[in-house]
Amino acid sequence: MPIELDVKFVPLSASHQPTTVVLAGKDGALGAAAQSLDNKAGQALRHAMEAAEFKGRPKTSIELLAPPRLDTKRLIIAGAGGELDSNDRYNLGGAVLAAIGARKTSTASVVVDLPELSASKAVDLAADLAAGAVLRSYTFKTYQTKHAEDEANGGAKPGVKTLFLHVADPDKGSEAYAERAALARGVSMARDLVNEPPNTLGPVEFAERLKALNVPGLEVEVLDETQLADLKMGALLGVAQGSERPARVVVMQWNGAKSKRARPVCFVGKGVTFDTGGISLKPGAGMEDMKGDMGGAACVSGLMLALAGRKANVNAVGLVGLVENMPSGKAQRPGDIVTTMSGQTVEIINTDAEGRLVLADVLWYAQERFKPRFIVDLATLTGAIMVALGKEYAGLFSNNDRLSEELSRAGEATGEKVWRMPLAKAYDKLIDSRFADMKNTGGRHGGSITAAQFLLRFIKDTPWAHLDIAGTAMDSGRSDINQSWGSGWGVRLLDRLVSDNYERPEK
Ligand code: BES
Ligand code: MN
Ligand code: ZN
Repeated sequence: MPIELDVKFVPLSASHQPTTVVLAGKDGALGAAAQSLDNKAGQALRHAMEAAEFKGRPKTSIELLAPPRLDTKRLIIAGAGGELDSNDRYNLGGAVLAAIGARKTSTASVVVDLPELSASKAVDLAADLAAGAVLRSYTFKTYQTKHAEDEANGGAKPGVKTLFLHVADPDKGSEAYAERAALARGVSMARDLVNEPPNTLGPVEFAERLKALNVPGLEVEVLDETQLADLKMGALLGVAQGSERPARVVVMQWNGAKSKRARPVCFVGKGVTFDTGGISLKPGAGMEDMKGDMGGAACVSGLMLALAGRKANVNAVGLVGLVENMPSGKAQRPGDIVTTMSGQTVEIINTDAEGRLVLADVLWYAQERFKPRFIVDLATLTGAIMVALGKEYAGLFSNNDRLSEELSRAGEATGEKVWRMPLAKAYDKLIDSRFADMKNTGGRHGGSITAAQFLLRFIKDTPWAHLDIAGTAMDSGRSDINQSWGSGWGVRLLDRLVSDNYERPEK
């Protein structure tokens, strides 16, 4: 189980676990519950805050061991001062879990109470905090046999297993948390998929995992190579043909809107379970990272799990194109010309520009079959996006200003930020081919833009946005709420896009 943490909501009056966290606002101001702990302890908290010159700033904390007269062995005062938005509250939850740290005791209390906190704000704070802690707790230890052995023998520090949130209204708290828990499960599955090694997760295994989900209302349909050939997905199959492992496309549908016939929102993910580059072989150094080249597909899968898990009031479809890009005697060559499902032909210049080929066919299929309200695709598409934006922002390319703005706002709200990049005729020209309708690379300059222009040639008049997540999906650095290589980036962003803009009937 990758999520290591169980969350329970209890009344403020419940007795405390051996480690207890209380929150402090600006200048160390305590809420009523923390204040009464302080009174009981003869102002030990206040004295400690003064001694440490503690100002209640988020991400700072102080620790009191064996506080007098309290039913806890260790008391942590964690800063929660200032205006906190939802993303800040998630981060605070992660930071609180980190402050609790690994101990022999496997339970901890968090007293969620701040001065002048309205009842509804307290519920949001507790639920976001819990979700942030749960995201922080994620680890991927499936293949670390030594670690499992240590834990079984009580050797390694176990870390917190259950977090008790002490709140004024535990029922409201756990109700609000249930939605976030569904989201966290989605993020966690996305991380799992990205972290999983490429020998155990090929296209078939990826599809099987989705098929095995068994979430009420989430329909999962797997298309095999015969079906993909019947659909004439020549570009996707061209990429797959060098591998011993057959391609799959998975279609996930969640029809949660009041009207089952309302047009769906649509998400498409690049799922290259391993990208060697093919005949245009990549250099060896760092190639192991290309197990993460299915980060887009992982995100779409995690998102669909989250939407279904929280019973989102929307019709949504998620599609993932799953292939392995390998060199072999059967592999496609530079110079090959493939015919896409759209009928347009593509001259292969570089077999390492494979993601756009996979997406071209899945994007076309999505529009033909579902006539969606919009499509957002996610792909670890180009190294060039990291040259442009580093690992801080994902690249956003779109034919639609409204969708772009909605995504940008959701990015700011969740901390999964996107930066809009240009699309223009002059860039599109760079992928014209001498022998086919287009070629699959556009030369040295503007590599992530010409990749996006390529995708745009497979968009009819659907509002569409493409997110180049090569920098953010994996190895994007640790944060308060993520310690994992595979970040699960995009699940929270797109869940927010949906909840803020698409859970009411179409205008
Ligand atoms: N999967 C890679 C892009 C990538 C690189 C993702 C590094 C994450 C980290 C993609 O398939 C690729 O190889 N792109 C090429 C395109 C080029 C051949 C036009 C690239 O970016 O070099
Ligand atoms: Mn590639
Ligand atoms: Zn790739």
